[in-house]
This record gives sequence, C-alpha cells and structure tokens, in this order.
Amino acid sequence: MADGFQFAFTPEVEALTQPAWEKVKRHVTPMEWRLQAPLIAEINRLKRERNAVILAHNYMTPEIFHGVGDYVGDSLGLAKEAARSDAAVIVQAGVHFMAETSKILSPEKRVLIPDLRAGCSLASSITGADVRLIKQRYPGLPVVTYVNTTADVKAETDICCTSANAVQVVEEAARMWGVDRVILIPDEFLARNVARQTEVGIIAWKGRCEVHERFTAADILEIKAAWPDAEVLAHPECPAEVLEVSDFAGSTAAMNDYVLKRKPRRVVLITECSMADNVAADAVDTEFVRPCNLCPHMKRITLENIYEALVEDRYEVIVDPAIAERARLAVQRMIDLPPPAKPARYDLVKARHHVDVELI
Ligand code: 13P
Ligand code: SF4
Repeated sequence: MADGFQFAFTPEVEALTQPAWEKVKRHVTPMEWRLQAPLIAEINRLKRERNAVILAHNYMTPEIFHGVGDYVGDSLGLAKEAARSDAAVIVQAGVHFMAETSKILSPEKRVLIPDLRAGCSLASSITGADVRLIKQRYPGLPVVTYVNTTADVKAETDICCTSANAVQVVEEAARMWGVDRVILIPDEFLARNVARQTEVGIIAWKGRCEVHERFTAADILEIKAAWPDAEVLAHPECPAEVLEVSDFAGSTAAMNDYVLKRKPRRVVLITECSMADNVAADAVDTEFVRPCNLCPHMKRITLENIYEALVEDRYEVIVDPAIAERARLAVQRMIDLPPPAKPARYDLVKARHHVDVELI
C-alpha cells in the first residue's frame, strides 16, 4: 500500500466491506484485505459525496471489480452504462479509450481516469490521419472501427463495434451501405475472426492486442493435453489459430456468461489475468486453469489512484467537442442496434476456415 493512506481497518469498515470480502476471499489474503478494505470503504463514501460512479472493466483486479465497481462488464456494457448513467462524475476503471468513449457519450459529465498512461496497443496502432487515407483508398466502403481506438479515429468512423457485436455490426454496415465489403480496423485478429463468420469481405489493419497476440495454438493444445476435460474460452483478439483449437470465442462479458450459465467443471479463459479471478468469485463450482497474460495498461489502475482521482478530481478526460460530436455518431449507431436476433451460441463457429482478409 502506498504511503499516505492511513485508514484503519475498524469493525465498521469490516462490516461495510463484508459483501466484497465474500467475493474476493479466494484471491485476496486477510492481510491484504486489512489494507484494502479501509480504502474501499473510503472510495465508496467519496462516490456518494461526489455523485460519482465507477465503471470497471472485467480486467480490473478483484478488489476494484468487486469492491468499488458500480457497473462492471465488457467494453460494450461500459459504453452503454456511460450513456445511461445520471451521475455527475464517471471514474473509468479501465483504459483511456474507454474513458474517452464515456466522455463522447456523456459530454456534460466529468470523466476521470486514475492514470493517464493506461493506454492500449490497439488504440495506439492507428490515427485519424491513417483512417482518412484508408477512406481515400476505398471510397464508398463503410469504416467499422473497434471501440479500442482514440476519439480521433472514431470521428472518422461510420459505426463502432466491440468484440461482443463485431459480426452483427459488419453485416449491418454492409446492408446499410449496400456493399459486400467493409473496412474493419484496427485489430487484425478480430478482423480475421469476424471474416470466418460472415460472407461480407473484410479489409483490415495490422493492429494487435499485445496481451492476446501472445497466445499460440501450441499453448492451447498443451493445456488440453494436461487438462483434457477443460473447456477453453478465448477472446476474439487472439490469433485465429488459437480460436480454432478453442471451444468458444467471445467478449469478456460473453465468457463470463458462458461460465455462469453452463457451469463447466473446469475452464480455461484465454485472456487477461484478472478476468478469471473476477468470474471465479461467482462460479464457485468451476475450477479455473490460469494461463493468463497481464495487460500492463489495465494494471495501472489501482485502489490508491482511484481514491486519489476522487479526492484530487483528476485526471479529467477531455475530448475536443467537434471530434466528440462526430465520434458520438459512430458509437451511438452501435449502441442503437437492436439486440442480435439470434440467441447467443456457445459453440465456436469454425465453418469458414482460412478466409483471407485484405490487409492494408
Ligand atoms: P471486451 O470488449 O471483450 O471487454 O474487450 C476489451 C478489451 O480491451 C479486451 O482486450
Ligand atoms: Fe488493449 Fe489488449 Fe490491454 Fe485490451 S488487453 S486494453 S486490447 S492492450
């Protein structure tokens, strides 16, 4: 615990934080909890005082996720909540593009990110100027952009998507623009994985998630050999070869849903490390094999800097209003899409192997 945080673990703090302790006690030791719980109680008090909400991504550590998150979920869920919330202040417990998305959707709110360095390798892989050049090269084709991008990039976009709805958005964009190809940027692997599930042609960019690109098919086969009964769930930012040998692919919320609904005896989540800790709190009958990779950007967010964000009112996320207005159209188009007509499927769509995407 950083210097300067002197809150005591009193009986009152213990009682206030008991529900969160019940969730995290399999992953947090009592010694750690005695340091974390007073800060959690104080953050929750400050939230009420400031009319603030904390939007916490599934990759936050368990004490943040279960201790102070008012809304927890994947990037689609967090964006929807930012649009819906009537709080005066949003503290984004996630990375910078998520905070920008909140600001774009709620320009009247004060949006804070506890550490401005919480970036994303996908967001930094492409600029608004790059997208303008792509549009010159492919006139008439809609630009579908993953939300893991800056506001500048979203401003050049026709419609955003997340890993939860990318196939639906690509098909909708092709229908709305009356074309058979769309530009889907910047995640090459997401684009390749989407291309396998649709007849729509995909033009992609060579961005990568530095966390998910590290998983290989050999890793998965090794895990399957060691735990033959384990069900393997992978994030669509992983290489296509990883998904080919997995049992399910979906956004972080979809993985959570899979585990809670299907209650597998043993599961492997091929994604960021904190995800399994957070899901495991509610999936007590499932055993987790944990071959995770840490996202260094997500891990910049801590209880300490969330507390400081609320006390010092920092760091405010500002988006140029003219950029925000254009970016909002693209994000809002995604949010306004009707829920998918088909129920969520838990088998992995592997029908169309080796689909080529055009890489820019
Ligand atoms: P989700 O939309 O699945 O939450 O993914 C966001 C992300 O950054 C994954 O790396
Ligand atoms: Fe970006 Fe990957 Fe980290 Fe998600 S896990 S925030 S995509 S670097």
